[in-house]
Parts: sequence; structure tokens; C-alpha cells
Amino acid sequence: MHRGKFITIDGVEGAGKSTQIDFICNYLAKKNINVILTREPGGTELGEKIRALLLSTDTQSMSSDTELLLMFAARNEHIKTKIMPALDKGDWVLSDRFTDASYAYQGAGRGLSIERIAQLEKWVLQDFTPDVTLLLDVPVALGMSRVKFRGHKDRIELETNDFFNRVRDGYIERSKQFPKRIKLIDASTTPEQTTEQIKTILQIL
Ligand SMILES: Nc1ncnc2c1ncn2[C@@H]1O[C@H](COP(=O)(O)OP(=O)(O)OP(=O)(O)O)[C@@H](O)[C@H]1O
Ligand SMILES: [Mg+2]
Repeated sequence: MHRGKFITIDGVEGAGKSTQIDFICNYLAKKNINVILTREPGGTELGEKIRALLLSTDTQSMSSDTELLLMFAARNEHIKTKIMPALDKGDWVLSDRFTDASYAYQGAGRGLSIERIAQLEKWVLQDFTPDVTLLLDVPVALGMSRVKFRGHKDRIELETNDFFNRVRDGYIERSKQFPKRIKLIDASTTPEQTTEQIKTILQIL
């Protein structure tokens, strides 16, 4: 039994992650690959409860350290109870956001120390890492304009443009640091053009 592949998709709000996830699931299904779709924060019963704490606007104030720790607490459950067992069975796993988002949002966005995030990554993930990360890159204003019709904004979506610009830069920085794993994809084009770029990457996985 071959171990499955672990694919993550990341990027700022409205980059088109959910849109491309539909394509990827269909593409893999056609190849008879069993793919488990999951998301962060969340992905497990406990993780989804942590997600609600993280994203609810009822959550009054939360320090950035607490936000980071909750992200990694949810991730610990996610990896150990869902992602690893699925990969071990030979299934593939596709996660809507993963650890790179902690570097981008809590690191670049909130200004937490990258070294500290790396310590948590080492603790929780050890050497576990996605086989490939699809980083959908769009200018923040374009991403926002795509999702502006959505009514309710969650606690993190209420952040400023400056915050999201730092997040985008943080993601780009990660892709420069890990160019083999993180594929920087221009997602400012049409959904079809973005899909074409993703297809090229999946073909060589
Ligand atoms: N390349 C694109 N060009 C124009 N519109 C797009 C493109 N990709 C997605 N959209 C549209 O933009 C909106 C947001 O896309 P989507 O929900 O896939 O983004 P997302 O990255 O999942 O956002 P979020 O971070 O909020 O989950 C949707 O209405 C979608 O149809
Ligand atoms: Mg989405």
C-alpha cells in the first residue's frame, strides 16, 4: 500500500481556494484516487469547536499568542486523528489551509515571532510536511472584491487591509523559502486559467 499524498491550498480571502478545491477533487476522482477534503482551522470534531472559538465575532478579545496556540492545538488533533491515518491508508488528503497560514496570519499578519511559530511547528508536526502546497496569490483588494457580497465577516476577516497585505507578503515569503514544496500560482486570472496552472502541478505529483 502506497502512502497517499498530502496537498494543501492556501492564500488570502477570496483567492479562489474553494473554487479550485472543487476542480482538484473532481480531477483526482477521475484518476480513481480517494481524496479526503478537510480544512483548517478545524477538520475534526474538536478542531471545529476550536475553529468556532477562533472565528466567532462573539469571542471578545484574544491575544495573538492564544490565537496561535489554538491554531496549533486544532492542527495537532487534525494531523494525528485525521490526516496521518488517511495517508497511511493510501488516501490522499486535500486541506483548505494548513501550517503556512500560521506563518502568514499569526506571523506576518499579527507580528508574532517566526522562530516561535517554527518551535510549535517542530513540536506538533515534527518533520511532517505537505507533499505540495498550492499558494493562490491575488492582490488583497481583488480577493476582497470577490467575496464582498458575503454577508457576515468572521473575527479574522474583520482585519484591516494592511493586515491582509502583510499576510499576502508573508505567504510569498514562505514560497520563496520553500520553492520546491510551495507552488506560487497567479490566481488573479480567470478560474479556468488558475485551474490550468494547478493541473500542470498535479500531473507531476
Ligand atoms: N479566478 C477567479 N476570477 C474571478 N472570480 C473568481 C475566481 N476564483 C474564484 N472566483 C469567485 O470569487 C469568489 C471567492 O472564491 P472562493 O470562495 O473560491 O475563494 P476562497 O479563497 O475559498 O475564499 P475564502 O478565503 O473566503 O474561503 C467566488 O464567488 C468565486 O466564484
Ligand atoms: Mg473558501
